[in-house]
Amino acid sequence: MRMMSKLTTIGALAATTVLLAGCEIGPKSSEQTGYRGTGIVQINDRSNATAPGEVPPPPYELPPSSGETAGQAYENVNVLAHVSKEEFDYTMAAITQWIVPADAPAAEAGCNYCHVPENLADDSKYTKVVARRMIQMTQSINQNYSDHVKQTGVTCYTCHRGNAVPKYVWTDPKPGDGRLMGNKRGQNTPVEAVGYTSLPVDTYAKYMRTQSGAARVISKTIHPTTANRSSIKDTEGNYAIMMHLSQSLGVNCTYCHNSRSFAQWEQSSPQRSLAWYGLQMVKNTNEEYIHPLASVFPANRLGPQGDPYKTNCATCHQQQRKPLGGAQMAKDYPALLTLPGAGSAVPSGPMMQTPGAAAPVAAAAGN
Ligand code: HEC
Ligand code: HEC
Ligand code: HEC
Ligand code: HEC
Repeated sequence: MRMMSKLTTIGALAATTVLLAGCEIGPKSSEQTGYRGTGIVQINDRSNATAPGEVPPPPYELPPSSGETAGQAYENVNVLAHVSKEEFDYTMAAITQWIVPADAPAAEAGCNYCHVPENLADDSKYTKVVARRMIQMTQSINQNYSDHVKQTGVTCYTCHRGNAVPKYVWTDPKPGDGRLMGNKRGQNTPVEAVGYTSLPVDTYAKYMRTQSGAARVISKTIHPTTANRSSIKDTEGNYAIMMHLSQSLGVNCTYCHNSRSFAQWEQSSPQRSLAWYGLQMVKNTNEEYIHPLASVFPANRLGPQGDPYKTNCATCHQQQRKPLGGAQMAKDYPALLTLPGAGSAVPSGPMMQTPGAAAPVAAAAGN
């Protein structure tokens, strides 16, 4: 009898060890990011910080921005025509290290990934056409979305990290999956996008494209009114996209929200407003720059619905609160910082909106 209970105890202990092994072990630090007493605290996994050296150094010293321009020196330069020839060559060298995979076959290695070697002005490789638009997209992010990317800015490397297709991307899911078990109505299919839960899987298509609405569901009135038509499924979708936001940044909900009221901007952390700008930036990038490239990409680069792979928060952030641990690499590539003719450009579209009827208030942390 006693033997039995001893065995049970050992068994229980062993089970506990196995269960605990599932917990995240390792150095943690905690940090208060919001009002005191509201539990707005982040537990950080210190092993998740960017290792030094992860950001590739510039190809060589930045050449002067004066002298002959690329537009004068070359035949078919449209986007970077205003940049000096020297700086243009430098930018090409940098782009090559950021985009071209190290294991590319010889015919696609280095400059040839985008260029026909006999004639660099030739536009017949689709990768060059895509890259030209990507240069404009990067300039637009740095110029029009500085509310989000600040002085850190982005380069091609922020998304690509040495890969032709960035690691974290999404496409529209297949429609109605009527199977033997019945139509699952776009949910109950555990996928990475929704943290392997039963939540709706069209999360990105719904919240990461311009024409889609805001991720808002909470009523402003006590009693139901026609002003808020959010269904339970809308709420589930909202929860799914919020899980994506959290996972992409490696944070929990209270990094942005005060759990007392998820809706109120006044009670949220300043990071929630930054995240709102991030959402507008992602929608704009996908809708204006990447989606229209559908006809340029070959079929093997498109998703099941024939749309190109698009970006979400994880494309840049990759589980970090600031991409690349906040390393400021964009400053070394001035050609990518502004759209040509910048200065006169008035930020249009999403930047003119505010997060809500009540604009986000930058809540002072720790008071
Ligand atoms: C990821 C794609 C990509 C890679 C890799 C790339 N380029 Fe380019 N290159 C472009 C694009 C896009 C343009 C046109 C830019 C524009 O319109 O402003 C261009 C234009 C040029 C031009 C101007 C040609 C002309 O006469 O119009 C030269 C020269 C050039 N690249 C050199 C290079 C060199 C050298 C390398 C390798 C070190 C390289 N490029 C790698 C995309 C690329
Ligand atoms: C905001 C994220 C982001 C940034 C910044 C970005 N890209 Fe991309 N890029 C993408 C995505 C997403 C795709 C994948 C599209 C697909 O395959 O359907 C892509 C695809 C490409 C491709 C096609 C690769 C292939 O083999 O099919 C090229 C070339 C490219 N990008 C060049 C660039 C250059 C050059 C820059 C910087 C000037 C840049 N990108 C900046 C997100 C980004
Ligand atoms: C990185 C910041 C961030 C994180 C982390 C985050 N949220 Fe959000 N949340 C936002 C933003 C921004 C909005 C407003 C979205 C919009 O306007 O499109 C929002 C909206 C919401 C709403 C709707 C509020 C309304 O007005 O109806 C709920 C509910 C919500 N979040 C819950 C959560 C939960 C639960 C988590 C954790 C799983 C979470 N959020 C994580 C930034 C965040
Ligand atoms: C094109 C790349 C890119 C994408 C996509 C992107 N971000 Fe960011 N984000 C940045 C950069 C760069 C910074 C650093 C800005 C700085 O230095 O303060 C940043 C900073 C932030 C911060 C502030 C972190 C802090 O601790 O101060 C939040 C919150 C954030 N992003 C949320 C989001 C959310 C949510 C999404 C998706 C809707 C998103 N981001 C998509 C590039 C990106």
